[in-house]
Amino acid sequence: MKKITIIGTGYVGLVAGAGIAEFGHYVTCADIDQNKIDQINRGKIPIYEPGLKSLVSENIHKGRLTFSSEVDPCVESADIIFITVGTPQDRNGESDLSAVKAVAETIGVHLNGYKLICTKSTVPIGTGKMIESIIRSKNPNADFDYVSNPEFLREGAAVKDFFHPDRIVVGTSSKKATSIMRDLYRPLYINKTPMVVTTVETAEMIKYASNAFLALKISYINEIANLCDAVGTDVHEVAKAMGQDGRISPKFLHPGPGFGGSCFPKDTKALAATGREKDSPMRTIEAAIQTNTNQKLKMVDKLIQLMNGDITGKTIAILGLAFKPRTDDVRDAASMVIIPELVANGATINAYDPIAMPNFKRHHPELNYFDNWQDAVNEADGTIILTEWNEFRGIDLFDLKSRMASPVVVDTKNILSIQQLQSLGFSFDNVGRNAV
Ligand SMILES: NC(=O)c1ccc[n+]([C@@H]2O[C@H](COP(=O)([O-])OP(=O)(O)OC[C@H]3O[C@@H](n4cnc5c(N)ncnc54)[C@H](O)[C@@H]3O)[C@@H](O)[C@H]2O)c1
Repeated sequence: MKKITIIGTGYVGLVAGAGIAEFGHYVTCADIDQNKIDQINRGKIPIYEPGLKSLVSENIHKGRLTFSSEVDPCVESADIIFITVGTPQDRNGESDLSAVKAVAETIGVHLNGYKLICTKSTVPIGTGKMIESIIRSKNPNADFDYVSNPEFLREGAAVKDFFHPDRIVVGTSSKKATSIMRDLYRPLYINKTPMVVTTVETAEMIKYASNAFLALKISYINEIANLCDAVGTDVHEVAKAMGQDGRISPKFLHPGPGFGGSCFPKDTKALAATGREKDSPMRTIEAAIQTNTNQKLKMVDKLIQLMNGDITGKTIAILGLAFKPRTDDVRDAASMVIIPELVANGATINAYDPIAMPNFKRHHPELNYFDNWQDAVNEADGTIILTEWNEFRGIDLFDLKSRMASPVVVDTKNILSIQQLQSLGFSFDNVGRNAV
């Protein structure tokens, strides 16, 4: 069994660390965020991810999973080091690689004998070479192999995705590294998970090309939905029939308020930036980004239209702050754009999300927060649904109407029954379903 160090204990690092420990390896998850490590060591999981708490505590209990805020000794003790730090977007839309560079320097300084250095963070094409050269600049005799092993897990289903990936991508020029990676992922390999072995640069490209394609698909169906609104057709019928074509697939054909989260927005922008830098423009991706920005603002316009062109002084209830259900992540969520836009138009916000409120509150402490949707909608002049949590799918519309000052709803996730909204006399809008 190997000794593994994961550097960066966030959504990816914590899930990957606990998952690899479950394979039987000895894993230390390291992070410079002392608070986060202290929290985990006290038994508190800093993120909401179904199934993660028990996976972490079982592996801690079995002595295979530990946590540390001292990164240097964790580099020294490891056979394999995973880099899973954040790569947020910088001011120019490019990937901010400062954390990756800092980790590469730390690894260079503390490398003591052969190790496999493996990047799971999403990094622009060419970053692997940069990491190798930083390590060598700090340690000219460094003995290591480098692997790009991009992560494809989805928040909200991350544990399941880690154990049941569609494929594992391993980018390396080293046979030894390939064999170590095959060995590491053997438990999945036995389940017939395909392993794509390729170059470092191709692996880096696969990650961006995949994420940007999914984002493109979302922007595409959102534009189709908007056109459905304009011509009086139902986007759900359109998307369903489209998805029955095996070449298209039904996935990522759900119209809504635009994609968000910690990956698609920044990854599309980083890919577009790479295209511009290499003089190979990514016009489809640039368009998907623009469509996505417009889509969020369109949701605000829909509400303002329903409220006779003016929301000044009105109270708007927001149901759902997370960028999707089953996560507490609000990074680049639609709520992050839509709520400030509503406030700029003079509205007061009552907000509720079953899990993501503490994270959202950190960015917007000024809003009114409630412990349940019923209290959030009381006396509200309008309600917008932004996340398709199950508890919103099951909302009793009669109850909703009786609580609100006026029955106005924008259902950006198309989860409410149009027939019921109509029969109860709601003034409502959705995304691409005006035909019904
Ligand atoms: N979140 C996802 O769904 C997802 C999926 C696939 C890939 N990715 C990619 O994985 C990477 C990590 O994403 P995330 O969502 O887990 O990020 P995150 O922000 O949740 O976690 C990153 C962690 O790295 C730590 N860190 C930063 N600098 C450090 C340093 N020098 N040494 C040690 N720790 C350091 C931070 O304190 C933080 O805990 C990103 O590149 C992201 O694009 C994310």
